[in-house]
This record gives sequence, C-alpha cells and structure tokens, in this order.
Amino acid sequence: MEILRTAAEITRFAKAAQQAGKVIGLVPTMGALHEGHLTLMRAAKAKCDVVIASVFVNPVQFGPNEDYDAYPRRFEEDCRSLESVGVDAVFHPEPKEMYPEGYGTYINVESDFTRKLCGGQRPGHFRGVATVVTKLMNLSRAQEAFFGQKDAQQVLVIRRFVKDLNLQVNVNMVPIVREESGLARSSRNAYLSEPERAAALVLSRSLRKAENAWKAGETDAESLKKLVREEIQSEPLAEIDYVELYSFDELKEIQEVRGESLLALAVRIGKTRLIDNIIIG
Ligand code: PAF
Repeated sequence: MEILRTAAEITRFAKAAQQAGKVIGLVPTMGALHEGHLTLMRAAKAKCDVVIASVFVNPVQFGPNEDYDAYPRRFEEDCRSLESVGVDAVFHPEPKEMYPEGYGTYINVESDFTRKLCGGQRPGHFRGVATVVTKLMNLSRAQEAFFGQKDAQQVLVIRRFVKDLNLQVNVNMVPIVREESGLARSSRNAYLSEPERAAALVLSRSLRKAENAWKAGETDAESLKKLVREEIQSEPLAEIDYVELYSFDELKEIQEVRGESLLALAVRIGKTRLIDNIIIG
C-alpha cells in the first residue's frame, strides 16, 4: 500500500490509475479505523479497480469547543488495517497541506436540511465536511466514493453538492456496522468508560424498540419518537441532543411514516456525543 502525504503525491498516483483506465474508489475517513470503516473499504474493493482511503482529521469540520485535539489518532495501526483489506493507497496529509497559508475557499450547502439534526447542533460542521470531501474527490479523481449510513445526513449533504456542482462521482451509502451488543461502530466509542459503554447500548435499543413498533403497525411519527425518548430517558447516564424522524431524501417533517424515513438520534453519554439511526418505511 502506498502512503501519500502531499497533493502532488496523490495526484501522481491518481493520474497513473486514471491513465491506465482504472475505476478509482475513494473512502474518506478521519482514522481510528474500526470494522465500520473496513466494511466501507471492502465495498470499495468490490466495486473499484483501485481504492484510495484518506486518513485526515479535518480541522475545519470541528467547532471551537469540540474534540479536534482529543480525536483519536493511530495512523500506524490504521495502515495495518487498510493493508489487511487490500487498500491500494492511503492519503494522509498534514492540515497545512490541505489548508495552506491564505486558504480561502469553502463549500456551503444551503439546503434547509443542512440546518437540521447535526447541522443544527454543530454550526459549520457540514461546511467543513463538504469542503474537505470536495478536495478529496478532486485529488483522488475517484468515480466512486463510499460513506457510512451512520452519518446519514452527511451522505445527503455530499449527494447534494455532488449533484449541484456536477461532480462526476457516484456516492455509495453503506449500512451501519454494529457490535454484537447493537452499539453502532464509531471512533468516538473509544472515549467511553465501561459503565458508559453499557449505557450507550440504549441508543440502538431505543431505535430497535421503535422499529418493532413500526413493524407492528405504528406509523405515527410523534408516537415513534416518544418511544425512543422514553427508552433513552430510562438510562441515567444518557442525555438527549435530538430524536427526529424525517423523510429520508430531503429531511422534511413528517406526521406519518409512509416512504423511506430516517429515525435519527444524538445522545450524550457523559462527555461523549454519539449518533445512531435507522431507515424505516
Ligand atoms: O465521516 C467522516 O469521518 C468525516 O466527516 C469525513 C467524511 C471523512 C470528512 O472528514
């Protein structure tokens, strides 16, 4: 696996793959890789000739009081994981390589849905995500890009700017990977103490409860959200940031689950903010 650290290095690698007529797949990550990321890599391997992963903790998507400095960084371990699934190259730039002195261009998706869910809670977050993903798409010359459903709103934001800017990249959404306990895999799970990890199971448990109610015929959005809230509130270490149920394509308010709908939540367990979701309907 090649390790690429500069824009010039990834450009050389991507240009050679493109000239050889290869389909290039991009899997952007912030590192601290877990089974969820490796599932994205495998999906990319299955669909593309050449897979480029990026490992970059993107400073511009973190707010001033967020966990940018504390975010887990373990590049050597990440490289071993990437190699084990056959990734061809990893792009691992320094922040000043991506945002050099004088950097001044940002991608701002202004659709209403960017202000909901995490967009409402983390101002500027999606501007940072859209900016770095656009740069990574350009640098890697990828035709296919892969993202996890756990960040479902992020996928919608990326699909929006890819369409709006006529980028020639297909955005693939890969289902959430869970531990056997039900906990969605996340790099932020590393922050949890043992009791917090046990408390964090309430996220997937509450979603499952709502999913079962929906399967049993409950379609009223308020009732489904109430079930989730009540389950989370039964866990003393959990504090709700949001529990929402929206149409999946545009995150529109819904009264009833009719078409594909996103039941999404963000919950603080101690100091750690976790997100999870299911798509029903
Ligand atoms: O989902 C993430 O890990 C990040 O938001 C991404 C897409 C790698 C951009 O920094």
